[in-house]
Formats: sequence, structure tokens, C-alpha cells
Amino acid sequence: MFALRGVSAGYEGTTVLRDVDLVVPPSSVVALLGPNGAGKTTLLRVASGLLPLSGGELLLDGQPVTGWSPTKLAQAGICHIPEGRGVFRNLSVKDNLVLQAAAGEEDDAIGRAIEAFPVLGRRLEQRAGTMSGGEQQMLALARAYVSKPRLVLLDEVSMGLAPRIVDEIFEFLRRLAAAGTALLLVEQYVHRALAESDYVYLLHRGRIDFAGEPTELADEEVFARYLGAVA
Ligand SMILES: Nc1ncnc2c1ncn2[C@@H]1O[C@H](COP(=O)(O)OP(=O)(O)OP(=O)(O)O)[C@@H](O)[C@H]1O
Ligand SMILES: [Mg+2]
Repeated sequence: MFALRGVSAGYEGTTVLRDVDLVVPPSSVVALLGPNGAGKTTLLRVASGLLPLSGGELLLDGQPVTGWSPTKLAQAGICHIPEGRGVFRNLSVKDNLVLQAAAGEEDDAIGRAIEAFPVLGRRLEQRAGTMSGGEQQMLALARAYVSKPRLVLLDEVSMGLAPRIVDEIFEFLRRLAAAGTALLLVEQYVHRALAESDYVYLLHRGRIDFAGEPTELADEEVFARYLGAVA
């Protein structure tokens, strides 16, 4: 289980997150929704160790992991796919995958990545930065996948992609979740996110406004608060 307890955090001089409690149970899919500027990206950056807390704590299996570096949290199985993808643009697809694999498991990692996204198999030698946005996002997801994470933090992975690619990505996330990987999902497609999740948190101006199961959220309420959200 991964949890934020009473977390506050922000940037020089500004507090963004205030007293945030959020739990991701093992093997569950949790959606984190909220309007632009609510603090969703900030929350994921705190959860992955990229941004320090100014209050509260992070817990993994009940043990405090507050202040752990991104590398140490990644080794503990927490994998972050940041806004804008986070692949090494100047490295080949193959090297991007190999870097993420455990020593001695490089070939296995490449095989698993191709199985998840066959298109990557045809692009192994291509520089990641020259691939299409959708292909780069698949590579980012494949990199997360080959590291065999316990929890993946996903920041708007469907952003700017064609509907067919978004379908493929959601299908992959469904398989990942079914195999027991927990997901914390920040998504602009509110309906899709709700359909995939076990729990949902609504973040508004850095505070959690609602925490519960998707069925507890009436559609009107979602849309009243998230006017402009993409169905
Ligand atoms: N590096 C930074 N320095 C200062 N303020 C920042 C920084 N990054 C984000 N903020 C501010 O923190 C607040 C929350 O931003 P954040 O990116 O977490 O929101 P978000 O919910 O992810 O929004 P979006 O839906 O637009 O991605 C915003 O007011 C933003 O301007
Ligand atoms: Mg964001």
C-alpha cells in the first residue's frame, strides 16, 4: 500500500498541496482528477520523490518513505511517467528499454516491451525523439512495464494522442492493472478514468474535495466541477 498522509508541498514561496490524504491499495487503480492547476502533477511529483514535502509523510507498506530520492523510490517499485513522457530522446528505443531493465534481464525486457507494443519492435534502432508522440508514449509505458513496478504514477498519458492510440494505451493499462500493478491515474478523459478505477480522488486548489468509489460520483457533479473535461 502507498499513501500520502497530511501532505503539504509547493514551490518557492507558494503552497500548492494542503493536507492531502490519499491511499493507493495494492493492485488497485486510483484516479486523481481535478481542474487545471489543482495540483495533480505536483502530487505525482511529491509521490515519486521529485518534490520535497513541507509537511506530512509518504508511506509504503506502512513504513515512512518521506524524503527518499526518486531513484530509491523507483527501486522500491514506484514508477513515474511524467507529463510530457520522460523518454531519453537522443537514445534509441532499444537503449531506452535496456537502461530500465535489471542487469541480465535486458533481452527479456525488450521482448516484454515488444509484446506490449508491437510497433516498438520495428523501431528498436530509431532515436526515441524522432518517433511520433503516440510511439513515444508507448515507449514511456513500456519502460515502466519492464521495470516490473508495484505502482505506476501516470500523468495524462493520453494527452494529445489520436483516439486509436488512446484506446491502445488504455487497453495496456487494463492489462497492467489486471496483472496486479497499482495505478495512480491523472487523466483528462474523466469518463474513461472513472470507468477504469476502483477509487477516485477529486483535487481542487490543492485539497482533496472527494474521495470514494466512482459510482458515488454522479455525472452531474463531475461535470459541474470539471466543466470542460473531455468525455
Ligand atoms: N515549478 C513550479 N514553480 C512554481 N509554481 C508551480 C510550478 N509547477 C506548478 N506550479 C503551480 O502549482 C499549481 C499546481 O500546478 P500543477 O501542475 O500541479 O497542476 P495540475 O493539476 O497538474 O494542472 P494541469 O491539469 O493543468 O496539468 C499551479 O498553480 C502552478 O502554477
Ligand atoms: Mg498537470
